[in-house]
Amino acid sequence: VRVVVDREACHGHARCNAASPEIYELDDVGYVAIRTADVPAGLEDQARRGALDCPERAISIVSDDEPG
Ligand code: F3S
Repeated sequence: VRVVVDREACHGHARCNAASPEIYELDDVGYVAIRTADVPAGLEDQARRGALDCPERAISIVSDDEPG
């Protein structure tokens, strides 16, 4: 599972980081600092929660297992 961030859409709500700081690191102005990241095993639920919690819907979860 990977996360993909639309950094144009990020407005610095930092809800993703609150849900999963291991995955959604913030830059020094509080915007999400990653563009894409592989989610470590066991952190998939956190990654999904962070994506769902983003009010701007800036984060997509990409499954490597499923076609499309
Ligand atoms: Fe940005 Fe959404 Fe996180 S606006 S800092 S990606 S909660």
